[in-house]
Amino acid sequence: MRRTRIIDALRSDSEIDSVLIQGWVRTRRDTKELSFVEVNDGTCLKNIQVIVESSLLEGAKSVSISTGSAVAVKGSLVESEGKGQRWEIKAETVKLIGKAEESYPLQKKRHSNEYLREIAHLRPRSNFFGCVFRIRNHLSYAVHRFFQDRKFIYVHTPIITSSDCEGAGELFQVTSLDSAALPIEKGEVNDAKDFFSRPTYLTVSGQFGVEAFALSLSNVYSFGPTFRAENSNTSRHASEFWMIEPEMAFCDLEGNIKLAEEFVKFLVDDVVENCADDLVLFERYVDRGLRERLRFVSERPFLRVSHAEAIEVLKASNKTFEYPIEEEGNLQSEHERYLTEEHFESPVSIYDFPRASKPFYMRVNDDEKTVRAMDVLVPGIGELIGGSQREERLDLLEENMDRHEIDKTDYWWYLDLRRYGTVPHSGFGLGFDRMLMFVTGVSNIRDVIPFPRTPGNAEF
Ligand code: 4AD
Ligand code: MG
Repeated sequence: MRRTRIIDALRSDSEIDSVLIQGWVRTRRDTKELSFVEVNDGTCLKNIQVIVESSLLEGAKSVSISTGSAVAVKGSLVESEGKGQRWEIKAETVKLIGKAEESYPLQKKRHSNEYLREIAHLRPRSNFFGCVFRIRNHLSYAVHRFFQDRKFIYVHTPIITSSDCEGAGELFQVTSLDSAALPIEKGEVNDAKDFFSRPTYLTVSGQFGVEAFALSLSNVYSFGPTFRAENSNTSRHASEFWMIEPEMAFCDLEGNIKLAEEFVKFLVDDVVENCADDLVLFERYVDRGLRERLRFVSERPFLRVSHAEAIEVLKASNKTFEYPIEEEGNLQSEHERYLTEEHFESPVSIYDFPRASKPFYMRVNDDEKTVRAMDVLVPGIGELIGGSQREERLDLLEENMDRHEIDKTDYWWYLDLRRYGTVPHSGFGLGFDRMLMFVTGVSNIRDVIPFPRTPGNAEF
């Protein structure tokens, strides 16, 4: 008797006398002599059909082998006489492992994604979410392969930090103080009495950590959870998301953009090559042009335009946008989507953003008005990647911190990196969940994260 995962059983190249499969019943259909039970164990999209003689399902068991129940089936893997599958299992024994009560909320009909979000603990058992989370797994593996093949060193940056890297103030505070008995002194909470003797937060980016490691180990990356208390309830923002942050020493913005483009193409190619079965489902139910779009991204070079050129394009578009086009500001997502979806109809890297709109750590250009920032925009998503060449010159970094009214003593170690063997260095952050949306065509970030956290929502 060999325990076999359904994915392996379905790919078998010969009949097998005795196998054990374990999984959950998807559907069951009965005739007088036989029951046809479809079982799935989550290893692939397809179910395996189990043919059960009625005598094996007598009494209470017959009622209990219903949609959602967990079963263990022993039998032989044989060529199917029916249509739609090559292999099926002819059962010798069917054991009920865990009965599903009648109220099981995942019945055979198609449920809406909104409804399935309410049962996030069971939704991986649906075809759609099984595919999403298998691709999520695959994409994580591909991320590591991309960097490991290029000799980048994986660094675990801290989740609890004391710095607001992006300077946007979208921080979740981490404290062990009792909110009912705060140590208030002179009208303020005394943070020295808190667990770390200072205010601490969940990280908004591991960038400063990877910068330190790049200035010792050359090429590094982090891949971990990121937290932002942004009150934007959009389909592309989550309060907890995963980000991949490579950082390269001896590298300027051009090298950075090049790596970003290669990385996106690598991930796209990898999913197309290795997740073909799951992609078929997304193409059928979510986005008809999915594989065509992925092929396009893989084959075509990305366009590159400066922020100033992007502003010109937007102004010349004669389109009415909800938000004004600001020469000195950041692009709004409607602007980003116009550029990549309507005007260029291609992924596009935008570089050299106005200095005033960006955080203190980006390298200032000679014009003193722009910084060496870059964003990679892709159709359907907008911003997928944000990055920059970092300011490696101590005096200019200090001047920029003054402009941003940042207390330099808090960043003594970050400044040290510019004091002791500083080098030009660059990096970026790719939003992993947005990448997953991009390769599946799924339009809401809540549907690519196992247990999504968004404003007002932290169930499960
Ligand atoms: O552009 P961002 O804010 O860049 C940084 O954090 C830099 N410190 C990264 C670096 O240079 N090492 O974020 C990077 C990417 C965005 O392009 C987007 O894809 C994703 O992270 N992202 C989010 N994804 C989901 N939900 C949110 N609330 C996100 N905010 C950013
Ligand atoms: Mg950004």
